[in-house]
Amino acid sequence: MTVLTTHQLSELSVEGLRAYVAEQLERSRARTVQLTDAVDTDDLVKQHSKLMSPLVWDYAHIGNQEELWLVRDVGGREPLRQDIDELYDAFMHPRADRPTLPLLGPSETRAYVVEVRDKVLDVLDHVKFDAGRALVDNAFAFGMIVQHEQQHDETMLATHQLRAGVPVLDAPPPPAGRRLAAPEVLVPGGVFEMGTSVEPWALDNERPAHAVQVAPYVIDTVPVSNGDYLRFVLGGGYDDPQWWSEDGWAHVQKASLVAPRFWELADGEWWRLRFGHREPLPLDEPVMHVCFYEAEAYAKWAGKRLPTEEEWEFAARFDPETGRTRRFPWGDENPGPQHANLGQRHLRPAPVGGYPAGASPLGVEQLIGDVWEWTSSDFRPYPGFRAFPYDEYSLVFFGTDYKVLRGGSFGTDEVVARGTFRNWDYPIRRQIFAGFRCARAPRPEELRS
Ligand SMILES: [Fe+2]
Repeated sequence: MTVLTTHQLSELSVEGLRAYVAEQLERSRARTVQLTDAVDTDDLVKQHSKLMSPLVWDYAHIGNQEELWLVRDVGGREPLRQDIDELYDAFMHPRADRPTLPLLGPSETRAYVVEVRDKVLDVLDHVKFDAGRALVDNAFAFGMIVQHEQQHDETMLATHQLRAGVPVLDAPPPPAGRRLAAPEVLVPGGVFEMGTSVEPWALDNERPAHAVQVAPYVIDTVPVSNGDYLRFVLGGGYDDPQWWSEDGWAHVQKASLVAPRFWELADGEWWRLRFGHREPLPLDEPVMHVCFYEAEAYAKWAGKRLPTEEEWEFAARFDPETGRTRRFPWGDENPGPQHANLGQRHLRPAPVGGYPAGASPLGVEQLIGDVWEWTSSDFRPYPGFRAFPYDEYSLVFFGTDYKVLRGGSFGTDEVVARGTFRNWDYPIRRQIFAGFRCARAPRPEELRS
């Protein structure tokens, strides 16, 4: 059983809903254990990059959030370890400072998260889903905690990418790419329903559903590939201020950027590093580990721009034949392995054209999975937004500091990668599994045809 819609959840018996929640909790924990068991004690406690927490911090933080929300709040039980709340509060300590804290060691951490989980399963056995609390309606708090763990699992995967040393992760390759019929798709525009009021485990920033008008535009069929991006690099794109915004140019100078992160030029050849492996740059794979400013500069160089978040979601969810907004590009069914590269099933994005079955009705591909896609939009609340269950989930991040990313990556779990899911990050960040695609205004003759 995979991710359920509100309708499917409401059809479940109480026992069915309990079993579903338990299965989702178990699935996320199995991944956390895999990512943390893969490295030795030294690699668990050390900081692999100033941008990231030590893996052992993420691990105990996952357990602490689970304790706060499910044991104490939903369950009304006594705290297990109130003394450590402050250590694992993401708002109290920036990532760079976390290694200096008196954190739980690896074995203490493992024992703590197991103890929390035991209590949570007991809470789950006794919880009344129909008690009239929004937090437990459709098991929302459990869904929030499952997603929280899965999101930290993606963050931990990014830490693995930054870790030096012998490779410790392995996965089969994604499907092969294919030649596309057309590099771009004309999207006719129109009014569509953006966001959601019905996905049971959607987070506050995805709500409520609201009508949005989108003007016609042209969007890339697939994400920009390494081969495309290499032409920008070789064409002197990083040395020419005309392609960069003022902030972008200042950043590229200050940070001395010359190519995407994890690219390496050696003996006249481009290589890339991936979870400890060094390989020739795969030209047909979506470019990854570029910041928002690099995406923006490439788009300008290509005579295009980044899509807005509205344009991205319109391309991903609108079905022009029925006028209806779908859950996913391919329809309403949950993502299967044929639709999208999700869930760390493959530890890399698929070459472009690898997921024809995941295409939207208009023929836009690889919107879900593979790489997060930078949009040109700031992270803003939708009209009618209500902070839930707390301001620190989304509200405190709204404004002009963060850019929105959409679609999820190969590292994102399907319980997170909804068609409505919104990610946000600083425009300088490159350690996330992010790429982009371009958009542009249609030419008059394209609109006539
Ligand atoms: Fe967190």
